[in-house]
Amino acid sequence: MSLTRSLAVSAFILAALADRYPKEVLWSDKTFGPDGPWRAVKTNIGGKEISLFPGTNWETWLIEDDYCGDGACYASEAGTHNRNKSGKTGNIDLDSNYSYFELGMNVEGGDTMRYVDDIEINGVTVTNASLALIKSPSSKIKYPGTTAPFFAGCLSVGSNHGEYQYFDSKTQGEEVKTSMPPGFLWDQGYTPSNSFGLHIGSVEPDFAGSLWYGGYDRNRVAGDTITNEGNFKDAVTTIQNITIDVISGKSPFDFNSTTTDLLAQGNTNEFKVMIDGCSPYLTLPKTTCDSIASNLPVTFNKTLGLYLWNTSSERYREIIPSATALSFSFTSKSNTNPIKIRVPFMHLNLTLTTPLVDTPTQYFPCHVNEGGKYVLGRAFLQDAFLGANWDSEVNKWWLAQAPGPNIANTSSVLTIETTDSTIRKGDTSWEDSWKGVWKDADITGDDSTTGDDKAKGLSTGAKAGIGAGVGVVGCLLILGAVYLWKRRQENQSPSQSQNEGLIEDQSKIQPDYQYYAPKIQELQSLPHYDSNTSWQSPSPSQAASEMQGSRPTPPELRGSEPTPRELQAQERIHEMA
Ligand SMILES: *[C@@H]1O[C@H](CO)[C@@H](O)[C@H](O)[C@H]1NC(C)=O
Ligand SMILES: *[C@@H]1O[C@H](CO)[C@@H](O)[C@H](O)[C@H]1NC(C)=O
Ligand SMILES: *[C@@H]1O[C@H](CO)[C@@H](O)[C@H](O)[C@H]1NC(C)=O
Ligand SMILES: *[C@@H]1O[C@H](CO)[C@@H](O)[C@H](O)[C@H]1NC(C)=O
Ligand SMILES: *[C@@H]1O[C@H](CO)[C@@H](O)[C@H](O)[C@H]1NC(C)=O
Ligand SMILES: *[C@@H]1O[C@H](CO)[C@@H](O)[C@H](O)[C@H]1NC(C)=O
Ligand SMILES: *[C@@H]1O[C@H](CO)[C@@H](O)[C@H](O)[C@H]1NC(C)=O
Ligand SMILES: *[C@@H]1O[C@H](CO)[C@@H](O)[C@H](O)[C@H]1NC(C)=O
Ligand SMILES: *[C@@H]1O[C@H](CO)[C@@H](O)[C@H](O)[C@H]1NC(C)=O
Repeated sequence: MSLTRSLAVSAFILAALADRYPKEVLWSDKTFGPDGPWRAVKTNIGGKEISLFPGTNWETWLIEDDYCGDGACYASEAGTHNRNKSGKTGNIDLDSNYSYFELGMNVEGGDTMRYVDDIEINGVTVTNASLALIKSPSSKIKYPGTTAPFFAGCLSVGSNHGEYQYFDSKTQGEEVKTSMPPGFLWDQGYTPSNSFGLHIGSVEPDFAGSLWYGGYDRNRVAGDTITNEGNFKDAVTTIQNITIDVISGKSPFDFNSTTTDLLAQGNTNEFKVMIDGCSPYLTLPKTTCDSIASNLPVTFNKTLGLYLWNTSSERYREIIPSATALSFSFTSKSNTNPIKIRVPFMHLNLTLTTPLVDTPTQYFPCHVNEGGKYVLGRAFLQDAFLGANWDSEVNKWWLAQAPGPNIANTSSVLTIETTDSTIRKGDTSWEDSWKGVWKDADITGDDSTTGDDKAKGLSTGAKAGIGAGVGVVGCLLILGAVYLWKRRQENQSPSQSQNEGLIEDQSKIQPDYQYYAPKIQELQSLPHYDSNTSWQSPSPSQAASEMQGSRPTPPELRGSEPTPRELQAQERIHEMA
C-alpha cells in the first residue's frame, strides 16, 4: 500500500475511532428484590425511568403496566413499561418463552409477548430493541411450596450471534429486525466493538456496580479468565468442584483451610452451569446444597427451597464477617486447569423480605427446585466479572473473579477491540481487595476497623470523560503521518501479537454478520490483511487505551460523552505502521 493511501486510510480510521468509546451504563441509586437486595441499571423507555437487572442474552425483559393491574405492585418500584406509548407493535410472529427469563426458577401462568421499543441508555437511544414483555398478572415465580411475583426486568448484554435478532412478521413475507444494545451501539458507530464488561457489585458491603458496552473496567477483574464459547445463559461452563475455603485468620469452621470437594461429597460429579443476571440464587442439585449446608448453621425451608441462617447461632456471627468463601472451580474448553471464583460468606448473608416472608429473614442462597437446570445467578455475580466480545470472528465470553470493595478509587476502563479475545486483570489482588472489609486475625481486638464502615464511600460508577477535540485529532494526524513515514524508512518486520488468540482462522469469519459491519469496521481491519498470508493483527496495546476517570459522579450525565481519548488515539498511530 502506498504511503499516501495508508495515510488516507489512517486519517479515516483515526477520525472514525475518535468517535467510538466504551459506553457506560448508569446504575440506579435504589436497590431491588425480595431476595437480595440487588443493584440495577437505569434505562429510559417510553419517557419513563425503568431499572433493570443487567445480564441476559438476546431480548431485554420488561414488566408491563398490565402486570400490575389497576394499581401499583412490587414491580412498580423498578418501573413498568407501557407498550401503548411506544407507537410500535413488534408484529412479531413468535412468543417469547419464560423458561429463558430467570433460569433455574420455575415460572407459571400467563404468556410473554415479543415486542420492539427504543431503550435510552445513558443518553443514547437503542432503536427497535428486542423485547419480551411480561404482561399477564397470573405469571409468577413458582417456588416448591409458594409463588411470588416478578420485581424487575432484565437488560440484554448481547448474544453470540451478531448484532441483531430477526423474526418472521405477522405480516407475511416481512422480516422484523430487532436490536440488542451492544450490537446496536457498535453497528451505529458509538462503541468500538459489540461487547460488554459487567460486575454487578453488592449492597452489603456497599460496592457500586459496573457495566460498559464496548469495554470494561479492568479494576473489576481480579483473577484469571475462564474463556467460553456460546452464550453464558447456555450450559457451557463446567463446575469441577465446590469447597469452603478459609482465606486468612482463625477458622470459624471445624477445618483450618479447606473442605474436601463438596460436589463429590454429595455424590455429584462435575456438571455444567448457566450464568444468569436475571436469576437471584445459586440453583444447584439438592445433594450439593445439602453438603455445603452441612458446614453451616442453616436450616432448609421446604416452602422456598432455600436455607435460612440461624441468626441466634454464635457460628453465624463468626462466619459471615470472617475471611472465608464458598469457592467454585471452573473449567472450560480454554482452561483444563480449574480456575476458582470465590464468593465470600459476607455476600451470602442475603435478606428475604415480603412477599417471600413476613419479616426480613437472613438466608443462604443455595436454591433447590425440580427444574433440572443449574444456574449461578446474582448471588454469584456479586463476585464474578462477566464480559464478552460478540464479534463474529471472536465470539468469546469471559468469567473471572471480581474484587472486593477495597479497590482503587478510580475506574480503569479498557476498550474491547473487535479482535480482542482476552481481557486484562487489575493491579489489586483479590485478597487485598477484601483487606479491612472482613474480620481476620490481623485485626483481632480492634472491631472498630472491620466490616462495612470501610466499604462505604465507594460510590456509584465511574465516569470516564471523553471529548477528544477536533484540534487534537488534527495534531495526531500530522504526528501519525510523520511516524508512519519514519516507520516505513526503518522497514521493520511486522510486530508480533502479544495477545495469544488474536490470530484468527480466516475460515471462521461468517459473511452473514460481516454484512452488518459498518464501513468503518472494514477499513479498520484493512491493515491486518496487509501483512501477508499469516493474518496477524498488530497487537492493540490495551494498556494505552486505559482511561482513568474519577469515580464519584452525580447520576445525571445525559448526553455528554465521556473523555481522555488522546492516549488511545496516539497508540493507534503506532498500530498503523
Ligand atoms: C393498551 O391498549 C390495549 C388495547 O387498547 C388495552 O387493552 C390495554 O389495557 C392498554 N394497556 C395499558 C397498560 O394501557
Ligand atoms: C418453552 O421452553 C420450554 C423448554 O425449552 C419448552 O418445554 C416449552 O414447550 C416452551 N414453551 C412454549 C410456549 O414454547
Ligand atoms: C425500526 O422499526 C421500524 C418499523 O419496523 C422501521 O420503520 C425503522 O426503520 C426501524 N428503525 C431502525 C433504526 O432500524
Ligand atoms: C487447626 O490449626 C490448629 C492450630 O494450628 C491446630 O491445633 C488444629 O489441630 C488444626 N485443626 C485441624 C482440623 O487441622
Ligand atoms: C477440585 O478439582 C480439581 C480438578 O479436578 C482437583 O485437582 C482438586 O484436587 C479438586 N479439589 C478438591 C478439594 O477436591
Ligand atoms: C440456632 O442456634 C441456637 C444457638 O446455637 C440453638 O440453640 C438453636 O437450636 C438453633 N436453632 C436451630 C433451628 O437449629
Ligand atoms: C447479615 O445481613 C444483615 C442485613 O444486611 C445485617 O444486618 C447483619 O448484621 C448481617 N449479619 C452478620 C453476622 O454480619
Ligand atoms: C419457610 O418459609 C415460609 C414462607 O416464607 C414460611 O411461611 C415458613 O414459616 C418457613 N418455615 C420455616 C420452618 O422457617
Ligand atoms: C475517593 O473518592 C472520594 C470521593 O470523591 C474522595 O473523597 C477520596 O479522597 C478518594 N480517595 C482516594 C484514596 O483517592
